[in-house]
Amino acid sequence: MTAERVEEVTVELGPRAYQVLVGSSLLHLTGPRLASLGLRGRCGLVTSARVGALYRAPVEASLRAAGFEPTVVELPDGEEHKTLATLERLYDGLLAAGLERRSPLVAVGGGVVGDVAGFAAATLLRGIPILQVPTTLLAQVDASVGGKTGVNHRTGKNLLGAFHQPCGVIADVDVLRSLPRREYVAGLAEVVKYGLIGDPGLFALIERNLDALLRLESDLLVRVVAACVRQKAAVVAADEREETGARAVLNFGHTVGHGVEAVTEYRRYLHGEAVAIGMVAACRVSQALGLCAPGLVARVQGVLGRAGLPAELPAELRGPQLVAAMRTDKKVAGGKIRFVAIEDIGRTRLVELASSEIVNQL
Ligand SMILES: NC(=O)c1ccc[n+]([C@@H]2O[C@H](COP(=O)([O-])OP(=O)(O)OC[C@H]3O[C@@H](n4cnc5c(N)ncnc54)[C@H](O)[C@@H]3O)[C@@H](O)[C@H]2O)c1
Ligand SMILES: [Zn+2]
Repeated sequence: MTAERVEEVTVELGPRAYQVLVGSSLLHLTGPRLASLGLRGRCGLVTSARVGALYRAPVEASLRAAGFEPTVVELPDGEEHKTLATLERLYDGLLAAGLERRSPLVAVGGGVVGDVAGFAAATLLRGIPILQVPTTLLAQVDASVGGKTGVNHRTGKNLLGAFHQPCGVIADVDVLRSLPRREYVAGLAEVVKYGLIGDPGLFALIERNLDALLRLESDLLVRVVAACVRQKAAVVAADEREETGARAVLNFGHTVGHGVEAVTEYRRYLHGEAVAIGMVAACRVSQALGLCAPGLVARVQGVLGRAGLPAELPAELRGPQLVAAMRTDKKVAGGKIRFVAIEDIGRTRLVELASSEIVNQL
């Protein structure tokens, strides 16, 4: 028997600091949280059709009970709608609702809703507050924290955007129960990533309790999501605008992962699945460079495989196309890729490699 847990993580950013609440049954806190920040009156509730059908009502009720007058805007679901056109419709809805400079937005949804609503909040009336209520595992451990917002351009993902920190984040793990299984498992890849890049205790916890994690056991999920958020918060606090290089560690598994997504035209793998392949690849490259012990690859593959994630780069994807795709990834510096290698569970090291050097090791 354990009491229900709520964990609170602070993202230490001086005047832009904010709290991330991680727990279960938290949606009713949306209104009171915003009110406690001194906000009131009109607000925008941005969600998607699918997520709105499930969770709009309790959030709206909480806002009304706290004295807010919410205007709901539902965006279409899916990455293909993370566009300027969707953003413009969102502006239309929010401006028609008469939002003002201190009117907050509440974003209830996955990373797509969070990124689009975040960009609207960054730009509407030159910036209004936004509370993120992430509803996918990926959004809870990654997208909702850190202030990166934006939409895609037809020539590339996330090319239009801004840094705009939220005024708070409410991560309710209960909502993950309605996520399609595959989306949830893909999010677990990012969770494993946090263990690998900086938290051996988290990695061990996942290894020991993977079955319970796959059953979405509430207490465990709260612990695990909070551990991830704590790490993301620390990295963001050290490098808010991706300038010092500290934030680069979050890219572990993503060089090859992004390459795999690109060569399969974003159709075959969910992001987390490609990252799983990329993390195993990063371990292999690290081993070939003599940076980590040989047992690491198998251990990482073991966890990812048990979770139901792909843990091997399919042979047909190893080739010049992957080399080219990795070269166009935005993390390239001076023709080389700044590659996040791993020394041991919880310890990474940046190395500069040519993309062919990476692919040759796989
Ligand atoms: N801003 C950042 O720092 C950051 C970081 C990582 C990723 N991202 C962005 O996040 C996006 C991916 O986010 P995502 O993986 O959350 O995908 P998503 O927002 O597309 O959500 C995935 C699917 O799950 C559905 N869904 C969401 N919550 C649900 C719930 N609780 N129950 C049932 N269905 C639910 C959505 O409608 C959607 O169909 C990408 O656009 C990526 O660029 C941003
Ligand atoms: Zn990722």
